[in-house]
Amino acid sequence: MLACAKLNLDLRVLHKRPDGYHELRTVFQTISLADRLTVEFTPGRRTLVTAESSVDIPDNLVTRAAGLVLDAAKVRGHAHFQLEKRIPMGSGLGGGSSDAAAVLLALPVLIGRSLPMETLQELAAKLGSDVPFFLEGGTAVGLGRGEELYPLPPARLGPMLVVAPRLHVSTPEAYKALSRGLTFSGLSHTIDSFRSFVWGLDGGLSKGGTCDGGANDFEAPVFKLHPRLKALKGKLLKVGAQPARLTGSGSALFGVFGCKADRDEALRSFQDEPAFAVSAISRQQYRSLWWRQLRAHISGRVWPPQSRYDR
Ligand code: C5P
Repeated sequence: MLACAKLNLDLRVLHKRPDGYHELRTVFQTISLADRLTVEFTPGRRTLVTAESSVDIPDNLVTRAAGLVLDAAKVRGHAHFQLEKRIPMGSGLGGGSSDAAAVLLALPVLIGRSLPMETLQELAAKLGSDVPFFLEGGTAVGLGRGEELYPLPPARLGPMLVVAPRLHVSTPEAYKALSRGLTFSGLSHTIDSFRSFVWGLDGGLSKGGTCDGGANDFEAPVFKLHPRLKALKGKLLKVGAQPARLTGSGSALFGVFGCKADRDEALRSFQDEPAFAVSAISRQQYRSLWWRQLRAHISGRVWPPQSRYDR
């Protein structure tokens, strides 16, 4: 199975909430860069979840997600995962969250128990703020912690480049550096500006499109902590990206190009950093990908995928 990465086409951080999380406004977008996950399930009297991964993962969301699914479905057995990481970790591309959502979408199908979308959304929110988005994919507005989602029509995005420097930005530290309080004086300006971004998305997010505004509020504090990221954004703009922006709290950046030739030319100038040529994956493409990869085990094209073994 493939588990796609995401970009935050726009990301605003409003106030800090009494629960310690921050209130967000964001636009998520799934992209073609993806991890590869395989799963085997053997029914048994005891539940055991094991995982092998191409890299060491301290807090593996895949095994946590599998535990939650087996508990919710009241099924016992051994679930074994093999994870080939292609999405750079801790880079704001949502790799761990996407892997977890992949387990929520696929494991119920494989064990023959359909879980309703509301249950999957609840489990997803427990696993992390970005996980619920990966149950839907495509282009979507995220509010709250990012778990309150509103689908948007597919954003018209040109060919893109993702640059993921080998540099870890701690998300809690990035939030701390923003030093938002329980109230935020820039609220109405930020909300107006976010709204124009979302409306403008209709016209396409690239040079010549009506929507080349947008922002990521983490850029100011994260660029201050890591000036190399600011320089990389400058480089993306110089080689023709419009816009170029940090995704999540970084450290990855993305650039949108007018055509493939420009993007491929730009890719050649990023030989010192891991860089990936990617395209947007719409919600329809995301669903089709899942139906295709689970086709031996599902009945019909319904969302979320439904097991053909369901009793
Ligand atoms: O939910 P997730 O595990 O992705 O969040 C990681 C950390 O980022 C949280 O523990 C919190 O410190 C911070 N965070 C936040 N506001 C959000 C999302 C995350 O303060 N909306």
